[in-house]
Amino acid sequence: MSNYDHILCIGAGYVGGPTMAMIAAKCPHLKVTVVDINEARIAAWNSDDLPIYEPGLDEVVRAARGRNLFFSTDIEGGIRDADVIFVSVNTPTKTFGQGAGRAADLQYWEKTARQILAHATRDKIVVEKSTLPVRTAQAMERILNGNAKGLRFDVVSNPEFLAEGTAVKDLEDPDRILIGGHETPEGRRARRVIADIYATWVPRERLIESNLWSAELSKLTANAFLAQRISSINSISALCEVTEADVDEVAYAIGTDSRIGPRFLKASVGFGGSCFKKDILNLVYICRSYGLNEVADYWESVVAINEWQQARFVRNMLANMFNTVAGKRIALFGFAFKADTGDTRESAAIGVTRQLLAEHARVVITDPKAIENAKADLGDQAGLVEWQEDPYAAAAGAHAIAVLTEWKQYKDLDFGRIFAGMEKPAFVFDGRNILDHQRLFEMGFNVFAIGKTPLKHF
Ligand SMILES: NC(=O)c1ccc[n+]([C@@H]2O[C@H](COP(=O)([O-])OP(=O)(O)OC[C@H]3O[C@@H](n4cnc5c(N)ncnc54)[C@H](O)[C@@H]3O)[C@@H](O)[C@H]2O)c1
Repeated sequence: MSNYDHILCIGAGYVGGPTMAMIAAKCPHLKVTVVDINEARIAAWNSDDLPIYEPGLDEVVRAARGRNLFFSTDIEGGIRDADVIFVSVNTPTKTFGQGAGRAADLQYWEKTARQILAHATRDKIVVEKSTLPVRTAQAMERILNGNAKGLRFDVVSNPEFLAEGTAVKDLEDPDRILIGGHETPEGRRARRVIADIYATWVPRERLIESNLWSAELSKLTANAFLAQRISSINSISALCEVTEADVDEVAYAIGTDSRIGPRFLKASVGFGGSCFKKDILNLVYICRSYGLNEVADYWESVVAINEWQQARFVRNMLANMFNTVAGKRIALFGFAFKADTGDTRESAAIGVTRQLLAEHARVVITDPKAIENAKADLGDQAGLVEWQEDPYAAAAGAHAIAVLTEWKQYKDLDFGRIFAGMEKPAFVFDGRNILDHQRLFEMGFNVFAIGKTPLKHF
């Protein structure tokens, strides 16, 4: 047993909950407590109906909860008890004041630092788990270590690379764990404490240690590179549509080049999720604040292409449905930003729905996990939408289906039955390129996919 047996995580969200559940499951010798200001969320973590959907998560939580994994709203008590505090609160894009729409909103982050300072009664290691602007640890250290209590806080950056939908697998078998700390004896010691936790189940060679600023910047850079790949292939998808090239064939051809690799080359209606856009805009803001305008412009274009791709999808629907969707029933298949999650933050479906409603379409939305979140995202427009659990009911009487999430079950639907119940001509706009387009065309559908020559009967 080390002196670092009590782990606290502040923030029980998509990152804090699964990450701590995995640490607790793999490290029965540690006591892991996850706290949050959101009482309903904590109650859900303590119930059989977890607040987030993630394949395999129920089992991991069940293995450890009540044994060495605890969810609580007692933040102060948690801080007092803990030797190591992971901070996993949200760091959304600022919506007000300087840097609005670009910079990270660090108010939750700073509140947490002040709370830690207020309630700590002994030295602690504080771990940045949230994604943060590079050099945030400096501000954190100034707040924490400018104290009259004589306490010492070592700040470590340990960004999380899990992807929603595969979080359990990513946590169990990560490509790497990145741990940044100061290059001082105390910094290296703190880094080692965190590395030892992960070493319980992650091979040592996958534990990467670096300086603090490299770790902070690596997370923003990783997300920028991933999003850039999607925007790159999406930009080429538009060119494919007008040249009779096929974007899946192009992606396969370039992805087999070992220097490029096959992943993240799937053309689509656009990337979503809570992180890509906010992290790139944050990177853009940081670059501009250092006067690196060309670098900022370069990364900003990744977001611009994504927004263009979403708008292009709706323009394409309009153009092919005889320039009007007013009064036409349009079934949206999927609202989650990707398959295997109920998360809808920044989902391409939000923009597509709003644009279709602005065109006076009658929108009906179906999704196996995301309907509640989707209603919240659409706010006062949710009442204008029809909600259906069952995709067959959603498609009945529709002029068009638009696939917006790559849920596996959509591939296996009985499209003959769906076609029979639709208005004619019947349209499919496959924003995820998951359906068998030729088969649908032969059934009678007019099929428009991303980066492919349209298959139409007129
Ligand atoms: N979602 C992802 O896939 C992902 C992946 C890697 C990294 N990240 C990063 O991890 C961080 C958290 O993301 P998330 O998706 O888990 O966010 P989230 O919004 O799901 O969870 C954050 C939680 O923090 C809580 N919180 C905020 N302020 C608090 C305070 N003062 N005290 C206690 N709790 C507080 C909120 O109530 C919320 O439940 C972000 O910085 C994000 O960029 C997210």
